[in-house]
Formats: sequence, structure tokens, C-alpha cells
Amino acid sequence: MYALWPTDGEPIEVTDAELERLYDYPPELTTPWVQANMVSSADGAATVDGRSAGLSHPADKKVFALGRDLADVVLVGAGTAKAERYAGIKPRELRTARRQARGLSPLPPIAVVTDRCSLSPDDPLVADTTVPPIVLTCSAAPADRRDALSEAGADVVVVGEDSVDLPAVVRHLGERGLYRIDCEGGPRLLGGMLAADLIDQLCLTVSPILAGPGADRIVTGPACAPRSLHLVSVLSADGFLMLRYRRA
Ligand SMILES: NC(=O)c1ccc[n+]([C@@H]2O[C@H](COP(=O)([O-])OP(=O)(O)OC[C@H]3O[C@@H](n4cnc5c(N)ncnc54)[C@H](OP(=O)(O)O)[C@@H]3O)[C@@H](O)[C@H]2O)c1
Repeated sequence: MYALWPTDGEPIEVTDAELERLYDYPPELTTPWVQANMVSSADGAATVDGRSAGLSHPADKKVFALGRDLADVVLVGAGTAKAERYAGIKPRELRTARRQARGLSPLPPIAVVTDRCSLSPDDPLVADTTVPPIVLTCSAAPADRRDALSEAGADVVVVGEDSVDLPAVVRHLGERGLYRIDCEGGPRLLGGMLAADLIDQLCLTVSPILAGPGADRIVTGPACAPRSLHLVSVLSADGFLMLRYRRA
């Protein structure tokens, strides 16, 4: 993987240590800071055959893993948790070393946003994890579903009445000291996060693929005001671009 920008001119090979330095969260956070981690085809599709895997590359996977490794919590929509068969985050040597070096908890919990509390206690996110998932739902969600998830060990939190209140979600995570928030999408959750102006950084991999029409973009949902970003780094590997933008 090479850094194309910023450099002194020539592309620079990026070591794992440099990648960590580039992609680390801002130091000494005292309030929540949200990074979104997404992949898109060159023509803007967020999926190929209903999954993001067809757009990925080992370099993109490295950036994706780093987002998790350096986070206090991973935030995801229920649609993605189901489509991508999310389970709890597992320990691995590099993850443990990175987290120990920064004084982070051994593993970040996955926080899943769901209006309808549509997860099932059998889903791997609930059943196959060492850290209980945080289920962020609303009072309109059926009480029996909330209770079933609580009984299965999930940490169920009601944040909103008719629908999940995303600014309240971010505040709630901050109250727990979970400031480094890695949002892995999907498009509908990201649309809501964008509408509420909650995105501080976008890590976007652009895959050299023309996926054709049909798939969602990386955001979907009601229209909202455009937000300006500034580009902070550009990495490349085999024609894939790993772009990092911050709130302008
Ligand atoms: N290209 C990428 O980087 C990328 C990343 C992630 C996912 N994906 C793909 O995207 C697809 C899933 O898309 P998606 O848009 O359905 O996923 P999503 O945003 O992960 O999930 C949508 C679901 O999350 C809950 N939700 C999301 N936003 C909410 C909000 N503002 N308030 C309350 N609940 C909210 C709702 O759950 P309930 O229905 O349970 O209420 C909603 O149905 C999959 O095919 C996945 O592979 C691609």
C-alpha cells in the first residue's frame, strides 16, 4: 500500500505503524467523535450482489480492521448486521497489542441501531460474542423483543420514542466514555447520521469496479443538506483508493 498524498512528491510505501498513525482517532478525546468506514465502486455502488465483500481488497480490509482495533465502540445498522452476519469482535494478536498500547478495553462492543428491535437472540451478534452487544432501540419497539434480547445477554438501551434518536445515541455512547465511534454503516444508518451532522471523518475505499445500476450508494434515506469535507490522506493499492476525509 502506498501513500499518494500527503507526500513530498513520490508515493511512499505505508508501513503498518504509519497506517496506525494516520488512522488513529484524535488524541485525548473528551467528547464523542464519529468515523464512518465505507467502500464504494467507482460508479458509486455500496454493494455487489447485496454485500460489500465484492468491492473490497486486502488493503481495504486492513483499514476496516484498524477502524475496529482503535475504536471504543463499533456502531452499525441492523440491516448490515444481518446482511453481513455480524458476530461479536474477536481477539487477535495485533488487535490486542494495538488496544493495550492505547489503554483501550480488550475488545470494543458492537452497538446496533434498530427501530423495530429486529435482531433475534440467535443472531451471531448476540449469541457469538464475548462482549455483549449494545442494542439501541426506541420505546415503540415491541417490548417482548427487547426483553428477549436482554435475557439473551444484550445490553438493550431505549434511545428515542417512535424511532431511534441518533444524536441521543452518540450522546449516550459518550456518557459511557465510548468516544471513539467507528460507524460501519450501512447506507440507511449513514444517511441518518449525515442528516444529523454526526460524521467527523469518512474513511472511504473506492474500488476500481463499475457495478452498474441497482445498488444503494453509501448513503440512503431522505434528502439532507450537503456537508463539506476536506481530504486528509490518499492511499493506494492495486488501483483501490483509500481516502480519508474530515469535517471541513
Ligand atoms: N459499502 C459499504 O461500505 C457497506 C457498509 C455497510 C453495509 N453495506 C451493505 O448495505 C446493505 C444494508 O443496507 P441498509 O441501509 O439496510 O443497512 P443499515 O443502515 O445497516 O440498516 C438499516 C436498518 O438499521 C436500522 N436503522 C438504520 N438507521 C436508522 C435510524 N436512523 N433510525 C433507526 N433505525 C435505523 C433499521 O433497523 P430495523 O429495521 O431493525 O428497525 C433499518 O432497517 C447490506 O447489503 C450491506 O452489505 C455496505
